[in-house]
Amino acid sequence: MKHWWKYIRPYKAWFILGPLCMIVEVIGEVLMPMLLAGVINAGNAGTLTVGSSIGTAGLMILTALFMMAGGIGGAYFSSKASIAFAGDIRNDLYRKIQSFSFGNIDRFSTGSLVTRVTNDVTQMQNFVAMVMRMALRAPGMMIGGLIMAIRLRSDLAMTFLISIPVLLVFVGSNILTAFPRFKNVQSKVDGLNSTVQENITNVRVVKSFVREEDENKKFHRANGDLKNAQLRAMRIVIQMQPVTTLIMYITVIAVAWQGHTLVLGKEMAVGDLSAFVNYVIQILSSLIMVTFLFMMSSRAMASAKRIREVLEEDPDLNDDNAARKDLTVKEGRVEFRHVSFRYYKHSEDSVLDDISLSIEPGSTVGIIGSTGCGKSTLVSMIPRLYDPDEGEILVDGVNVKDYSLYHLREGVGMVLQKNVLFSGTIAENLRWGDEDATDEEMIAAATSSQADKFVSTFLQGYDSELDKGGNNLSGGQKQRLCIARALLKKPKILILDDSTSAVDTATEAQIRHAFTHELAGSTKIIIAQRIASVMDADRIIVMNEGKITGVGTHDELLESNTEYREIAESQLGKKGA
Ligand SMILES: Nc1ncnc2c1ncn2[C@@H]1O[C@H](COP(=O)(O)OP(=O)(O)OP(=O)(O)O)[C@@H](O)[C@H]1O
Ligand SMILES: [Mg+2]
Repeated sequence: MKHWWKYIRPYKAWFILGPLCMIVEVIGEVLMPMLLAGVINAGNAGTLTVGSSIGTAGLMILTALFMMAGGIGGAYFSSKASIAFAGDIRNDLYRKIQSFSFGNIDRFSTGSLVTRVTNDVTQMQNFVAMVMRMALRAPGMMIGGLIMAIRLRSDLAMTFLISIPVLLVFVGSNILTAFPRFKNVQSKVDGLNSTVQENITNVRVVKSFVREEDENKKFHRANGDLKNAQLRAMRIVIQMQPVTTLIMYITVIAVAWQGHTLVLGKEMAVGDLSAFVNYVIQILSSLIMVTFLFMMSSRAMASAKRIREVLEEDPDLNDDNAARKDLTVKEGRVEFRHVSFRYYKHSEDSVLDDISLSIEPGSTVGIIGSTGCGKSTLVSMIPRLYDPDEGEILVDGVNVKDYSLYHLREGVGMVLQKNVLFSGTIAENLRWGDEDATDEEMIAAATSSQADKFVSTFLQGYDSELDKGGNNLSGGQKQRLCIARALLKKPKILILDDSTSAVDTATEAQIRHAFTHELAGSTKIIIAQRIASVMDADRIIVMNEGKITGVGTHDELLESNTEYREIAESQLGKKGA
């Protein structure tokens, strides 16, 4: 409960007013049978007068009006409170997810995070609204009804001594079984969302491989899993209602049976018996209401747990312990000291194994190596997308962990291998690099990355709208805009991870040419598959299976490094090499 207090506190007034209004309704509900009994008894005894029946009828209408006002107020305040409560939780979840590292996100999976922010929060919201409307009403009705019933005939009320415990045991055991089943339902919703999300995000790939049928099957499976889990959970809910109603009516019959002999023996008035039966129904149905509430609570608890998992997850990468938070990246010197890393902490093979290297400020360094050898992993440690397991990385001689994440990432511009643009105009996307960049600066960055030429051919130029992910651009156009976005940051260290793979060689050469002139002071790290992309670099690093196997200029490596020579010969031919 203490975890949720924070979300209740700002709306305390509504949280109190809602249930209070419901109490008004309860009082009416407890009074009504008594008023009715008075009329029936008087009619039966022949003492009913027009005046007294009009009086009672007026009283009953008044009570009904009060009950209505209470009901409306209760519904109004509980909706308001639960909506505000859920809204705040969603905000906190979203903010928390923004603070997650790549590692945190890998652990939850995106599909599951989406379900938690949407579906799980809605479960809690519905539950809170229901609790507010029922929490005082059901026990109030039960206690009020019990008091009235005992006052009427304490001997008849003994029946409850049997029916209430029977009901409680039945319901209690059901709830215990329901909890794990509801938890399972939520995890199946995760599965379904992940499938849908993956498919829709990558719908172009699905279509180009004509995988629709297989994707349908995959969805069918996830959907079937969810359906079965829901059926298993609902089976409990389904059996609960008829059984509790059965227990209720058996009690009613027992009371009516005993009551009718009392009425025949003139020991009890007919009106009192009818009021008593009304109270029996009221008491047991409020008990059923409570049980339903518990049932829903097992579902909400499953959701609450999943929400807390996100809220309590420690972003495994933060700058809380950074010693020099004001420091900015000034030169762009990079040094790796005995860095080792693995994605899965329990796996034996390292993705990076004891890497040491140093890169001079302002120099251009190429990285080349077979696919999966760890190039992207290596560079992602410079802006701290991941932290090394062993060793350290220094920028300008200072451990990257000692910078604030903001300053470090301001200083390091990285064009990720799997890069995306966002919905919005081209200009808005480029200004991710620098919100305050002038139009001239923006156009200059786009000119360096050879994007200006094609942007100017668009009807609306830099104000052209991009689809989500930049899907209305060609691969090479997208890459050039991603480079422009990184350039606009004017980073001291610029990392291009296979960022010109879709750009033709002539355009790529122009980009490289622009870099040497306009980014003379920045350190440039370029990962590439093509030797031509890196052969002019000051130094080239050759990687293989998480290790550095060679460092040198193009000519030096051709002499000394067999692997490099083989790649060069296969790409450029013997003559070029
Ligand atoms: N997020 C991740 N979670 C788990 N393993 C990963 C993750 N990213 C990469 N790997 C694994 O780490 C190894 C190195 O991957 P990395 O992306 O660094 O290779 P790379 O040299 O950049 O390859 P490429 O040239 O294809 O881009 C690979 O075996 C890959 O399967
Ligand atoms: Mg890579």
